[in-house]
Amino acid sequence: MNLNLNNKYALVCGSTAGIGKATAIALASEGTNVTLIARNEDKLKAVLTELPHPENHSYIVADFSNPEDLQQKVADFIANNHGFHILVNNTGGPAGGPIFNAKLEEFQNAFTQHLKCNHVLAQTLVPFMKDEGYGRIVNVISTSVKQPLDGLGVSNTIRGAVANWSKTLANELGQFGITVNNVLPGATGTERLTEIIKNKSAKTGKTKDEAANAMKQAVPAKRFAKPEELADAITFLASERASYINGINLPVDGGRTKSL
Ligand SMILES: NC(=O)c1ccc[n+]([C@@H]2O[C@H](COP(=O)([O-])OP(=O)(O)OC[C@H]3O[C@@H](n4cnc5c(N)ncnc54)[C@H](OP(=O)(O)O)[C@@H]3O)[C@@H](O)[C@H]2O)c1
Repeated sequence: MNLNLNNKYALVCGSTAGIGKATAIALASEGTNVTLIARNEDKLKAVLTELPHPENHSYIVADFSNPEDLQQKVADFIANNHGFHILVNNTGGPAGGPIFNAKLEEFQNAFTQHLKCNHVLAQTLVPFMKDEGYGRIVNVISTSVKQPLDGLGVSNTIRGAVANWSKTLANELGQFGITVNNVLPGATGTERLTEIIKNKSAKTGKTKDEAANAMKQAVPAKRFAKPEELADAITFLASERASYINGINLPVDGGRTKSL
C-alpha cells in the first residue's frame, strides 16, 4: 500500500521518547518531513540524527505547560519555514493516583498540557491544511476514553475531555479534507509504562516483574505493545489512505479494552 506521505510536512509532539519518537521515525521512513517537539534540546538533536535523511527534518523546543509560548514558537516556525499537513498531538501523561486524592492543580495542569496545547496547535496549523485541502490531526490519548483505568484518576478525566474536543473538531473540519482521529494506546513499552509499573509495585508490594506480568495477563495478546505498533496506526491515520476515517477512537491495546 502506498501511503502517499512523501513530501508531506508533519509536526510530531512529544517525539524524543516512546510513542512520539517511534511515530517520527515511521513518518520519516515514509518520506515525510518531520518537525519534532519536546522540552529537552539535547534529546531532540539526538532523535534528529536517528531519522532517515536528517537534513529534511527539524525541531522546536517547547514546554506544553505553557500553551501561549508553544503557540508563538510554532507560529514563528511556520512563518519562517512551512506549514504542516499532519499534526500528531502527544505529550507526557499525568501522574497516577486515586482521583479522590487529586489536587486541584493536577487537573489544571493536565488540562493545560493536553487539551489547551492540542487546541492552540490545531488553531495554528489548520489554516495551512485548509489551503492544501489536506489535513490529518491524530491525538494520542488512552484507552481510558472507553474504560477508565484504576489508579489514573486525573488522566482518565482529562482524556475524556480531549476525546470530546477531538470529535467536535472532526465534525467541523471534515468538509475541508481534514480528519481528526484518536489513537488509544494500551500498555506500551515506554518510559511512561516503566513509571506505571514502578508505582504499581510500590503500591501492591509485588516485584516489578510480578506487577508487569499481572498487567500482561489482562491483555488477550499477553504482552505489551511496542511503540512502533502505535506508530504504524498513527502513520496510517496520517496518510491519504485513511481519507474517509474521521472522528474515531482507535484502541491499539492488544484487545485489552472490554468494551466495543
Ligand atoms: N506507554 C503507555 O503504556 C501508554 C498507555 C496509554 C496512554 N499513553 C499516553 O500516550 C502518551 C505518550 O506516552 P509515552 O509512553 O510515549 O510517553 P513517554 O515515553 O513518557 O514520552 C513522552 C514524550 O513527551 C515529551 N513531553 C513530556 N512532557 C512534556 C511537556 N511538558 N512539554 C513537551 N513535551 C513533553 C517527552 O519529552 P521531554 O521530556 O524531552 O519533553 C517525551 O518525548 C502519553 O499521553 C501517555 O499517557 C501511554
